Amino acid sequence: MRMVVLGLGYLGATHAACMAELGHEVLGIEVVPEKRAQLAAGEVPFYEPGLPDLLKRHIETGQLRVSDSYAEAADFADVFFIAVGTPQKKGEYSADLTYVDAAVEELVPLLTRDALILGKSTVPVGTSRRLSERADELAKDIDVEVAWNPEFLREGFAVKDTLHPDRVVVGAFPGGIAETACREIYASMINEGTPFIVTDPPTAELVKTSANAFLATKISFINAIAEVCDAAGADVKSIADAIGYDARIGRKFLNAGLGFGGGCLPKDIRAFMARAGELGAAEALTFLREVDNVNMRRRTRMVELTREVCGGSLLGKRIAILGAAFKPESDDVRDSPALNVAGQIQLQGASVTVYDPKAMPNSKRLFPTLDYAEAASEACESADVVLVLTEWAEFVALNPVELGRRVRQRKIIDGRMCLDRRNWTVAGWDYRA
Ligand SMILES: NC(=O)c1ccc[n+]([C@@H]2O[C@H](COP(=O)([O-])OP(=O)(O)OC[C@H]3O[C@@H](n4cnc5c(N)ncnc54)[C@H](O)[C@@H]3O)[C@@H](O)[C@H]2O)c1
Repeated sequence: MRMVVLGLGYLGATHAACMAELGHEVLGIEVVPEKRAQLAAGEVPFYEPGLPDLLKRHIETGQLRVSDSYAEAADFADVFFIAVGTPQKKGEYSADLTYVDAAVEELVPLLTRDALILGKSTVPVGTSRRLSERADELAKDIDVEVAWNPEFLREGFAVKDTLHPDRVVVGAFPGGIAETACREIYASMINEGTPFIVTDPPTAELVKTSANAFLATKISFINAIAEVCDAAGADVKSIADAIGYDARIGRKFLNAGLGFGGGCLPKDIRAFMARAGELGAAEALTFLREVDNVNMRRRTRMVELTREVCGGSLLGKRIAILGAAFKPESDDVRDSPALNVAGQIQLQGASVTVYDPKAMPNSKRLFPTLDYAEAASEACESADVVLVLTEWAEFVALNPVELGRRVRQRKIIDGRMCLDRRNWTVAGWDYRA
């Protein structure tokens, strides 16, 4: 099938390349010229394992093309995926829908045949209805159907998650072609047995926000338990293991540590609270405020712990920060807990050197005043304390004996509880987590 993907960021570029992999003919539309040029040359402008090969292959065969022209898009296909960003509004909790709205405003007046718009971006409940009404106003003697097909991919596993998702959800208004079109688009995964859930648009929108709210709650739950463990001298990791054996609870997303960040969970729970408020259901989601509070408190706690380990003051200390991406296998530093901590520590008078295997360019753009090293060992040179804030395999595999020769003091704080405590203590390190 021919299709267009509007917005080629983490979600859109992956979706476009994966749709080409499924055999569809894809035109991707991106407004940022540098990104577009890179993608058109077969290069992925961000780090996502497995995506470069896929993209390069389909750009070379012409199965996937990249453009900035909405006119070309309108002419090319009858199915349009919206994959543009929905960031948090500045100074507010709600989602900024400027980019989603702009995509519809620009596309629909150019359409000359009936069309289907499938939203993949994460949006507040009610967005499909609003866009559908707007599309009706903008459409010239044609039918433009709007349906929502939320995306659940995880950065770092985006290709696998797109080609073999846990489920496909389609929220469609009655009488349209969205379900039939999605059955054709996603035929290979439906044939694999992937659950295919057809519902109405508000439900589909809420499936996505509810999933993210639940995941955020699970992380903050174990981090709240970690706070009690700190006070009581108990071991949160053993608690997570023990309760995780209960199939009703499950072990995934129960890793205590520095908490969640990135371009999705933080802004999505806030947008969810804001939207519930607009709908008069604010009370239902007040617990998410606490989920957010627990999460943000982890960052402050990490700074306090570093100060404690430094003997009460960070002034003049050298701190090595290993990890800048909000999670491993990604270069995404949006709302990164690691960089947030790095910034706070620097503001308290320490000299901070950051190293991340993939997120250095993005980090330098966002936090140009921090120092950056080209390797973990270089970041740790003469450090008073080493902080591991993103659980990259490279850090888990660090040799405590070798690193011990580089630092000024053998003090390490494992912000993700990912290191082997014994290895580090045996090598003479003061290990905190
Ligand atoms: N990143 C993820 O892991 C993930 C997972 C699931 C859902 N989502 C959701 O997907 C959406 C996109 O997220 P992302 O992480 O890919 O964001 P992103 O910022 O990486 O990508 C958005 C892209 O859209 C482009 N764009 C903006 N306006 C445009 C327009 N009018 N026409 C064409 N292109 C335009 C931007 O330049 C950018 O490249 C968000 O709603 C997000 O919540 C993201």
